[in-house]
Amino acid sequence: MNDPIQQMIQAKTVLAPMAGVTDVPFRMLMRRFGCKFAFTEMIDVNGVIYNNRKTFRLMERLPGDAPLGIQLVGRDEDKFSRVAAYCVEKGYRVIDINAGCPARKVVSPGKGVSLMRAPAVLSRIVRRLVRELGVPVTVKMRSGWNEEEKNYMEVAEAVQDAGASAVCVHARTKEQMYKGRADHRITAEMKRNLRIPVFASGNLMSPRDVKDVLDLTGCDGVFIARGCLGRPWIFSQTNRMLRGMEPIDPPGFEDIKEIMLEHFQLASEYFESSRLFPRMYKHVAWYFKGHKNLDPVMRSYRQVDSLDGLRRFVESVKVGERNRLEVSGGFPAQGTI
Ligand SMILES: Cc1cc2nc3c(=O)[nH]c(=O)nc-3n(C[C@H](O)[C@H](O)[C@H](O)COP(=O)(O)O)c2cc1C
Repeated sequence: MNDPIQQMIQAKTVLAPMAGVTDVPFRMLMRRFGCKFAFTEMIDVNGVIYNNRKTFRLMERLPGDAPLGIQLVGRDEDKFSRVAAYCVEKGYRVIDINAGCPARKVVSPGKGVSLMRAPAVLSRIVRRLVRELGVPVTVKMRSGWNEEEKNYMEVAEAVQDAGASAVCVHARTKEQMYKGRADHRITAEMKRNLRIPVFASGNLMSPRDVKDVLDLTGCDGVFIARGCLGRPWIFSQTNRMLRGMEPIDPPGFEDIKEIMLEHFQLASEYFESSRLFPRMYKHVAWYFKGHKNLDPVMRSYRQVDSLDGLRRFVESVKVGERNRLEVSGGFPAQGTI
């Protein structure tokens, strides 16, 4: 089975693009937990055109990191065309267009969710890429700009007519950003009315959420985003649930610490040590989320600057009474980090 869209449908749970998160080590960890299809984070076409070193770094991949789609963000049709051709040359087999990012620096130059206010521009980009590339082109969009401007059907039909192979809808408006509940009645309506596969995004925080959204909407698969932050096992647990297998308990605190160390190991092979520990800060907070007293623990983490120190930090963190985190053993005062 080489058709990437079929691979996405078969996978059912796809790792969503997440800027600053879905880098190489993160994707490798998710794959270890059963993620079968992943996307890079959004790559700005300008970064490629202007030879930005950081952008090229975001486009890297390892051999085991497949199948993998790449998401591009931009506005200019010619730039999309040049950059997408380069991506195909580099081996990417799905090009996704970002029509959902609500961040100001993306929206003001007319990129991301702004493309939903310009369906003709978006369709022209899709049509051009479909004509030139010979690989599937998909679009990740939102429900609309705000409550009064929910033009998801118009946009989805336009990109379908332009030749898009699938759409993913984050069922929130631009104004909602990441707050409030995603309205998956929208996803269901899109699934009923479109000919191309529809993927759902929004509030998929547990295997149960995934199953409910698949059942409610009849969609072809889901994109997992915040649901896997600090919780990569959501993929294996969801795969089990969708196969009708008995659920297994989520990992306990000591197991989570081991998973975190595994993540650090992967990240240390990829990031130089001066960047490793600041880069992993948010992940540490996500692994420890749900416990009280996180602040002092994260203050201790800030003092970690070696893998050895990290190991001692991790060993020193325990869960005490009433779910409170404690840093024991005098970390880091007695250490030599
Ligand atoms: C930290 C972060 C970064 C994100 N970056 C991107 C991105 O680069 N491209 C994109 O299409 N969506 C991006 N998203 C949106 C997610 O892919 C997803 O659609 C959204 O989080 C809704 O799903 P959730 O409620 O299950 O988290 C990002 C979300 C988060 C939390």
